[in-house]
Amino acid sequence: MSDSIKYLLDEKDIPKHWYNIAADLPEPPAAVLHPGTMQPVGPDDLAPLFPMAIIMQEVSTEREIEIPEPVRDIYRQWRPSPLFRARRLEKALDTPAKIYYKYEGVSPAGSHKPNTAIPQAFYNKEEGVKRITTETGAGQWGSSLALAGNFFGLEIEVFMVKVSFNQKPYRKAFMESFGARCVASPSDETESGRAVLAKDPDSNGSLGIAISEAVELAVQRDDTKYALGSVLNHVLTHQTVIGLEAMKQMELAGDSPDIIVGCTGGGSNFAGIAFPFIGEKFRGGKAMEIIAVEPAACPTLTRGNYAYDFGDIGHLTPLVKMHTLGSTFVPPGFHAGGLRYHGMAPLVSQLAHLGEIKPRAYHQTECFEAGVTFAKAEGILPAPEANHAVKGALDEALKCKKEGKGKTILFNLCGHGHFDMMAYSDYFAGKLVDMDYDESELAMALAGLPSVAAE
Ligand SMILES: Cc1ncc(COP(=O)(O)O)c(C=O)c1O
Repeated sequence: MSDSIKYLLDEKDIPKHWYNIAADLPEPPAAVLHPGTMQPVGPDDLAPLFPMAIIMQEVSTEREIEIPEPVRDIYRQWRPSPLFRARRLEKALDTPAKIYYKYEGVSPAGSHKPNTAIPQAFYNKEEGVKRITTETGAGQWGSSLALAGNFFGLEIEVFMVKVSFNQKPYRKAFMESFGARCVASPSDETESGRAVLAKDPDSNGSLGIAISEAVELAVQRDDTKYALGSVLNHVLTHQTVIGLEAMKQMELAGDSPDIIVGCTGGGSNFAGIAFPFIGEKFRGGKAMEIIAVEPAACPTLTRGNYAYDFGDIGHLTPLVKMHTLGSTFVPPGFHAGGLRYHGMAPLVSQLAHLGEIKPRAYHQTECFEAGVTFAKAEGILPAPEANHAVKGALDEALKCKKEGKGKTILFNLCGHGHFDMMAYSDYFAGKLVDMDYDESELAMALAGLPSVAAE
């Protein structure tokens, strides 16, 4: 097996449990607060938005959460996903490093997002929900929930951030193929959307705006709930199938990672690959360098405050403690739409705050350059979001070359870029510019953070 390219598992090797890192954290996560009372929220506060099974997972401290059989059954459509050894890339870079990548682009939507869309749709269906509303950035999450809604007979309404809606018109048709409805956000269908349009009719939109629109619709009808594609604990837990499979596959390869790299938007694919390994370290296993890569134009972990904030611009969500650029911050319209979020998963934020994760930020053109180098060697064209992880892995491999060290690097290639060809066209035409956020807008957004006593 020493010169294998792919490390494959059988369908029976799909994990039977997700891994919940809350069981192994050195200190308990900060409470989620009700913005009215500033007291910790209870299950009843969240019930208008989520089914009870999901709320219980959100607050669970059990290390293992059973994956329901109907979910494992659908996972079999694309799981276990392959682990590749990037031998051609290693050669192209002339590095002594060993590079492995877990490839989530094999899912029907083209990314890791169905790993949580399927269970979220399953639990909603079990509790009699008829309709789910959601936001989407890159379109990957909306596509995944559309797919999941189709499998479980649920109506799906998606608010897609306007700049991505315009960059990727075929995502709407993809969602419609599965019977979902997709609207550009900000829209005139909700109060939150109309409020943004009144101030800025040309608004690019943001995940924070689209979340407000989706939440607003969900709470209006008893048969409707809301689903989030990242950030929350249960979403990160569902994504750990990635890392749990990767652990078995690294064993097959007779190797173990020294460095793990993932890109971070809301933090779920990063958590998916990294949390099972971090958990093993917490339980006395090997220490690794864990690198979270984000866009320099939306630098939540590297530039944000670690503070309580809202998850959306309309302040309809509870307050969570996370790295944040401020809920009113609207990032520039760069191409990695899935990474344009002002906040970060509280669990990822806590681990960064504890120094367990090293965050790093890159500009978009250097990420596209890395993505094209990767594609030429490996034959897979990554999504613009995934290019951030590729760039992080490439830089680590080149550092190994400089230092003459043969470290083992594992990264999550969380999606393919087949819906992102306009971005690649712009890159090849030299039209892609490195956007910077507006410093004064950031200062204003941070100044507007809610004040929470005894943080
Ligand atoms: C391909 C891809 N990667 C990464 C992300 C970022 O999300 P997260 O940080 O939750 O993985 C997205 C979000 O839409 C995405 O589409």
